[in-house]
Amino acid sequence: MKANIVLLPGDGIGPEIVLQGQRVLEAIATKFNHQFTFQSCLIGGIAIDQTGDPLPQPTIDACLASDAVLLGAVGGPKWDDPSAKTRPEFGLLKIRKELGLFANLRPIQTFPELVGASPLRREIVEGTDILFFRELTGGIYFGPSGREVVDGVEHAMATMVYSVPEVERVVRLAAEAARGRKGHLTSVDKANVLEPSRLWRQVAERVVREEFPDLKYDVVLVDSMAMHLISRPKDFDVVVTGNMFGDILTDEASMLPGSLGMLPSASIGSDGPGLYEPIHGSAPDIAGQDLANPLATILACAMLLRHSLQLEDEALAIESTVRKVLAAGLRTRDIAAGGPAIGTVAMGDEVLKLLV
Ligand code: NAD
Ligand code: IPM
Ligand code: MN
Repeated sequence: MKANIVLLPGDGIGPEIVLQGQRVLEAIATKFNHQFTFQSCLIGGIAIDQTGDPLPQPTIDACLASDAVLLGAVGGPKWDDPSAKTRPEFGLLKIRKELGLFANLRPIQTFPELVGASPLRREIVEGTDILFFRELTGGIYFGPSGREVVDGVEHAMATMVYSVPEVERVVRLAAEAARGRKGHLTSVDKANVLEPSRLWRQVAERVVREEFPDLKYDVVLVDSMAMHLISRPKDFDVVVTGNMFGDILTDEASMLPGSLGMLPSASIGSDGPGLYEPIHGSAPDIAGQDLANPLATILACAMLLRHSLQLEDEALAIESTVRKVLAAGLRTRDIAAGGPAIGTVAMGDEVLKLLV
């Protein structure tokens, strides 16, 4: 098949890890006889530096015309001034909105070869397999926000807003996914305090009762979920939650497999191209040093093949190769638990060696 893939390397370690992802996709194209074309576009801090805009229009146009988008990460200290007019992160939020990517799938699986990398005990993490659905284009990230001076005192606000259709569509996707897995859906909210969470809870319960009565369904408050996630992770199957709760809980969940550098994500909408990225950020502390773990991005490439190109065998080929690389004892520093480690490029090389 032919596919046009847009690469958005972004900032920090973004270009280093996207390069390894591209190499793996190229190897898949050769091995399975596909034609993938790649186009690299600007996003984030580098886009601000070059154009003044964290998401220039040519990037939006290229993404809209593509079959799928692979993103590295955006942001860094250079653009962190709180009074700056624009920020790299706005580019990421805007591309998600422009592409209508309302569902962010974040699988949290522990790799048997890697249980030693987790700071948590083996018997707690071993066998964890959770699929998070993080709502991605609503909630407190996108509600009315700003600053104003009231009676001489400066105030800042960000508002959490959810509509019924926004909750329905992401809960439906999560519930469908649960049907194809262990049949267990957990919705996470803060309905004891927040009005949008009370709406979320009512809508989620109705959708599940009317359309997915076969599922085991429960609701958990987000603060309590933060605890359950690391005390009994194996009790969860599919988890659906709002934008900010999903952001925070999945970074926490990265300690189950042991590193943010292992976690991929897929952002999808009702139609059009999906966007694939690691869940981690631009890691300014290790950028440019060949230290970043490229496996989250390489696993995001597998999700790209599966969800946007319907190439299941190719996706499985990447996932099983990553397992083989781990089984061979190859580790970047973040998963080496103090043992010997290889660099970003060498890890990409190892994946390619075992893939072909
Ligand atoms: P981060 O995820 O960039 O880094 C957190 C920690 O994890 C760091 O110690 C980092 O070295 C480590 N880490 C992350 N990815 C790694 C990898 N692949 N291999 C090895 N170690 C890895 O989070 P942060 O430091 O809070 O944020 C840095 C910048 O990234 C901020 O500007 C933030 O806004 C941005 N950010 C961007 C995205 C994105 O583009 N999707 C996501 C999160 C944060
Ligand atoms: C992520 C990041 C982003 C988010 C930021 C950089 C906008 O943390 O992709 O998880 O909060 O969605
Ligand atoms: Mn995040």
